[in-house]
Amino acid sequence: MTNYIINGGKPLYGEIEISGAKNAAVAIIPAALMVDGVCRIENLPDISDVNTLLSILKEMGAKIHAVNKRTIDIDCTHIGTSNATFDKMRRIRASYYLIGALLGRFGKADVAMPGGCNFGGVRPIDQHVKGFSAMGANVSVKNGIVSTKTTGRLRGATIYLDVVSVGATINLMLGAALAEGVTFIENAAREPHIVDVANFLNSMGADIRGAGTNAIKIRGVESLKGGFYSIIPDQIEAGTFMTAVAGCGGRIVIKDVIPKHLDCISQKLREMGVTVVDLEDSVIVQRTDPLVRTHIKTMPYPGFPTDMQPQISTILCLAEGTSTVTEGVWDNRFKYVDELTKMGSSIRVMERTAVIEGVPYLTGAPIKASDLRAGAALVIAGLCAKGETVVEGVDYIERGYEKIVEKLIGVGADIKAVYVPDEPKVKTRDIG
Ligand code: EPU
Repeated sequence: MTNYIINGGKPLYGEIEISGAKNAAVAIIPAALMVDGVCRIENLPDISDVNTLLSILKEMGAKIHAVNKRTIDIDCTHIGTSNATFDKMRRIRASYYLIGALLGRFGKADVAMPGGCNFGGVRPIDQHVKGFSAMGANVSVKNGIVSTKTTGRLRGATIYLDVVSVGATINLMLGAALAEGVTFIENAAREPHIVDVANFLNSMGADIRGAGTNAIKIRGVESLKGGFYSIIPDQIEAGTFMTAVAGCGGRIVIKDVIPKHLDCISQKLREMGVTVVDLEDSVIVQRTDPLVRTHIKTMPYPGFPTDMQPQISTILCLAEGTSTVTEGVWDNRFKYVDELTKMGSSIRVMERTAVIEGVPYLTGAPIKASDLRAGAALVIAGLCAKGETVVEGVDYIERGYEKIVEKLIGVGADIKAVYVPDEPKVKTRDIG
């Protein structure tokens, strides 16, 4: 396994380039399955979730050619439905997008129940199932496999989502793009990556309107043709580095971003005494004065993103006064708090709210990531803390952050990735 070793307490200075958005990429790659012909996709992040999806597509018969580090051609003209291993599908949450893509194109999909980050709570897909059923598919779940089938093409329908779900909005949009007739998704999620997936599909010949609002109208077309598409920058990767400099102090220019997508994060940082200046496609983040407490509730876009909750909570540990952070999207996303406690933070979690009393400093400790964003938060904690921090569980972090160690070293952080051989398993005797 690999650990990150961090010697904290250093301010960050310099520039960081942001990669393509993970949560757009993991939907656009399955969407490429629906296209007859070659899709050229630019600004793909080099992260393990993307690589897992590409290898699933290859097993289905897709031809994939790397044009350069960030650009690939995917040709799914001759793919089949059933060659991908369920094992790989289980590794990532976004496998559920294969349901919408395969149902749309072939009227049939068998997909292993998605895995991905486990924050401790349940991650249901009932809204996806409700939508596909309304569009005429039979859906059953047996032995961890979601099997869906329809006679002929999916049929357009009006679907009201009972919860604002990013995954259900995108998945239903995929299926509806090749359905017969018109689909309305109401109470849809509005995240920037939803607009990105709609733009990708439209550039391949789909007819989707209203993405980015809570009512999306999709007029199904008979087929999609190849084309070019460039993925938007990763809002959460940018927010993570903004939070890192806010915690450590210093000044960094976060390049290749869409500042508007970062508003929800920038505003909270400003409330905490951080200077954030928006330029055309970059933001400057500078922190010289002590951090000030604030109150945050996570919500679907354009609210404060749940995927930034662990990172901002971490730096609030160092803000003067008492802050509160309420998780409004997931049932349980505070598992990382125990690790921060080992570093001297003062946090009480009461149901969905963390009450954070600011402390003057954190101290380095051995800590373990339990999911992707919790892992990013622990890296930030290590960067802010006095002394050495060893972060275990970095596989989670590398699912979603491209070259995080190199990018942080580039702005002056003292962090390295160290390979540690796994300890041999000790045989124990059952003495109970
Ligand atoms: N929900 C349901 N039923 C459903 C679907 C969702 O009740 O059928 C509930 C969930 O339990 C949750 C809420 O609705 O309470 C929102 O879930 P959503 O479907 O929006 O989440 P997701 O699509 O599974 C994506 C991101 C997550 C991010 C959430 C919320 C991907 C691959 N994942 O998950 O990203 O937290 O949206 O913005 O796009 C991450 O990147 O670290 C990450 C976990």
